[in-house]
Amino acid sequence: MTTDPAVHPAWLPEASFAPLGSRRVAVDLRDDVSPVGATVRAEVAAAVAAHGGAVVDADHMSPDVVFALVPGDTDPEAFTVTSSGGAVTIAASDARGLLYGLFHLVRRGEAAFDATDGTRRHAPHSPLRMLDHWDNIVVHPVMGQVERGYSGGSIFYADGSVREDLARVGQYARLLAASGINRVAINNVNVGPLETRLIGDLLPDVVRIADVFRPYGITTHVSVSWASPVRLGGLTTSDPASPDVQEWWAGAADRVWAAIPDFGGFVIKADSEGQPGPFAYGRTHADGANMLAAAVAPHGGLVHWRAFVYNHEQDWRDRRTDRAKAAFEHFAPYDGTFADNVIVQIKHGPLDFQVREAMSPAIAALPGTRVAPEFQVTTEYLGHQRHAVYLGRMWSELLGFPYWGAEDGRTLADVAAGRHPSGDGTRVGGFAAVSNVGDDVFWTGHPFSQANLYAWGRLTWDPTLDPIGILDEWIGLTFPGAPAAVRETVHAVLDESWETYELYTAPLGVCFMVQPGSHYGPSPDGYEYSPWGTYHFADRDGIGVDRTRATGTGFTGQYPAPWSDVYESLETCPDELLLFFHHVPYSHVLHSGTTVIQHVYDTHFEGLERVLESVRLWTEAEDAFPADVAERVSDRFAEQVRSTTDWRDVINTYFLRKSGIQDAHGRTIY
Ligand code: GCU
Repeated sequence: MTTDPAVHPAWLPEASFAPLGSRRVAVDLRDDVSPVGATVRAEVAAAVAAHGGAVVDADHMSPDVVFALVPGDTDPEAFTVTSSGGAVTIAASDARGLLYGLFHLVRRGEAAFDATDGTRRHAPHSPLRMLDHWDNIVVHPVMGQVERGYSGGSIFYADGSVREDLARVGQYARLLAASGINRVAINNVNVGPLETRLIGDLLPDVVRIADVFRPYGITTHVSVSWASPVRLGGLTTSDPASPDVQEWWAGAADRVWAAIPDFGGFVIKADSEGQPGPFAYGRTHADGANMLAAAVAPHGGLVHWRAFVYNHEQDWRDRRTDRAKAAFEHFAPYDGTFADNVIVQIKHGPLDFQVREAMSPAIAALPGTRVAPEFQVTTEYLGHQRHAVYLGRMWSELLGFPYWGAEDGRTLADVAAGRHPSGDGTRVGGFAAVSNVGDDVFWTGHPFSQANLYAWGRLTWDPTLDPIGILDEWIGLTFPGAPAAVRETVHAVLDESWETYELYTAPLGVCFMVQPGSHYGPSPDGYEYSPWGTYHFADRDGIGVDRTRATGTGFTGQYPAPWSDVYESLETCPDELLLFFHHVPYSHVLHSGTTVIQHVYDTHFEGLERVLESVRLWTEAEDAFPADVAERVSDRFAEQVRSTTDWRDVINTYFLRKSGIQDAHGRTIY
């Protein structure tokens, strides 16, 4: 539990341990000798040492808090809280449950001890709550040390190897455990030659990382290259049907699990954006995934197989090919054939983590498969942690999406937990997301972007939590004892910041009006004539992608009812996704009553106004913040205002020039 005082404590400042640490605490772990049990003891000992409490014996004194291992609960991560007369007992069947119970107390602070009598059980929504790091060991010439990373270098790697000093990883593990995350994949899904060796000669380094994560109940995973048998094994093929290839992977898995018996498994991006995969051998993704699954199954390992498979060398002239359809087409036909230990990891949107895009229909198309919807905590398309954007509300909306309509009620989160209406209830998956952490002193570049990491963890534990409640919880923990001005300002700035960001960037679900490559800042035609399959088809008359069955690409047909019809019809398609599903004239009248073109102008003016209002609130309260936080946030706001102004003017000007239609309010457009 060594913490570097130079690094921002995020949601675990010492003060947050005062309510627990000032009490008499008993820890009854029976004969538990697990690393997580040792962590529970150490956390309690450190808290009472810092805050004047004491570790006491449960049998001889009457403690204020008891942590007790009690057999019975089948979920090792679950815990119960019993409060009575100001005393609290946390019980769990495994030390992992006790650790989550400990952080539950820290989160609730004094309120945990004021609670009325009663017992309540807390259990995670699903057992797979994962963060994927897109960290490279070798700095990539274009993507840098951390692909799509906006928080400095990697906490795992520096100077071309795994860091000697992993103290920072230990601090990270503690933060993650306190938010609910229990698995981490430690390297980029685009696996380079050196990173391929993490399951070869670099394995001892993975052992060191796993040793640091384990005491906080976090399981280590590695992203592997499909070409490993060639790159590491010297074979001439990676064909999954080849007995040599199968034998090679089985041997590799044996070596990995011999070194790390509780290793989690492999994450793999295959046949995607230039990564090798089974297609080269005429095999399907089920063939590929099942071959790897067989290799890791004897060890209880998992294969997280990514469904981000599409043609990235598309001809923009070809209007029949639709990238949005790809995941469904490549995976739905194989539903029911994936091995029990394969998790198909599917991005929540059919394109790529856009500010607003439709839900991926592929997630609902695999009732006989374990699925993990994939999200992005790092803000690749949401302002690079230079803009203050809180994503809790976005994720909450996505997690609660009712795939079969409001009447059925089953959501994306239900599917992840194996509750697909056509499933047998056994296909339990989970959640994955790309981390936003780097070696920056604030962890996340923008100090307020810590809220996203925290919210992601909390929502994976319980997707039904109120995202604004989570925001306030994070504010309370991160700025303990702060004046109301601090709490209210952060709340006001972040509360509707996702919607604000949507206002000033690409309108009505049209997607990808970003600078190619960096994905930061406006470039309305940046991807229009590119091979990436990301078009909006704006001309002088209108804009949008016709994805209907009647006249377009037919993508709407991949959805179950009612969405297949809701999105198909202009009458019922929600405004915010209009241009995702339809090509319409600029004069088309939205459900909101305004035209598409006027909506573009209005939202872009309003977006900047809202950012300027946030800056005004910030400037008033800035002095009440810790100086280091204030300085960083002010810098970020300066850039956000510059960038938002750019977005407003570029997008408005683009649409004025395309359409020739003036703003009804005569505001300045260039
Ligand atoms: C996006 C992102 C890439 C990343 C890819 C992925 O396309 O821009 O950097 O590699 O997603 O999810 O694999």
